[in-house]
Amino acid sequence: MTRTVYVNGEYLPETEATVSVFDRGFLFADGVYEVTSVLGGKLIDFDGHAARLERSLTELDMAVRLHRDELLEIHRELVTRNDIEDGLVYLQITRGSDGDRDFVYPAEDTPQTVVLFTQSKPGLADSPAAKKGIRVISIPDLRWDRRDIKTVQLLYPSMGKMAAKAEGCDDAWMIEDGKVTEGTSNNAYIVQGNSIVTRELSTDILHGITRAAVLRFAREAQMQVEERAFTLDEAKAADEAFVTSASTFVMPVVEIDGVALGDGTPGPVARRLREIYLDESRKAAI
Ligand code: PDD
Repeated sequence: MTRTVYVNGEYLPETEATVSVFDRGFLFADGVYEVTSVLGGKLIDFDGHAARLERSLTELDMAVRLHRDELLEIHRELVTRNDIEDGLVYLQITRGSDGDRDFVYPAEDTPQTVVLFTQSKPGLADSPAAKKGIRVISIPDLRWDRRDIKTVQLLYPSMGKMAAKAEGCDDAWMIEDGKVTEGTSNNAYIVQGNSIVTRELSTDILHGITRAAVLRFAREAQMQVEERAFTLDEAKAADEAFVTSASTFVMPVVEIDGVALGDGTPGPVARRLREIYLDESRKAAI
């Protein structure tokens, strides 16, 4: 089946959708994105993703031109047209193009480029990786200092994923000053005794929408949460670890740099949080 994608106001077959070669997203990575998961044909945490999109645009002096209701309608239309039961909706907005390459931003009224497409992932919530847990390596965090803005500059995270693959692992945790910032495309957590530890919000990390929901559910379930940076050494000595993101929900981590955590299988806290997150999110999906 040919996918239907959305480009600048039109729904088109993917083979007919085009963007200018001068687009600033292509030339300068001058754009932001969001990934929203779909379970049972419904959107998970849509409001959170829409709010973060507005924040990312504003932080980059880009106008917020699409109202939340319009965005929701486009998301839903794509889910319907592409018959998505489980999967993802990817959205990208770039500063557009004024027909040439120039470091200076184009005039403020230059149309932005808006692209959305779906990825079908049957059984997304049932992933075998969640049952086994994933293995991560550590790499230095060489990204820029505004990681709170969800820009499309993803080359370094992509390199991190490749470095992990080269070592037979699944992902990389990025380290700055001895402390874990986040995974290549997820937020990182460890469990020490009764306490769930994850880095506090700042410009050092992306303010994960899944993170916000998971911490809320953890607190509601009377679990102890500590929002502070933790070291790589602490992580290797932790009882358990996990990551969160819109595409993986709560994913147990069972090994860091070849060091097995606990008995090397997904821990009870990660398993419970995954269950709560999936239950509650399905209930609240729109
Ligand atoms: N990535 N940190 C980084 C660097 C991320 O790229 C992501 C999401 C997260 C988790 O954010 P959220 O819970 O809002 O998905 C944290 C998406 C899924 C991606 O790039 O595909």
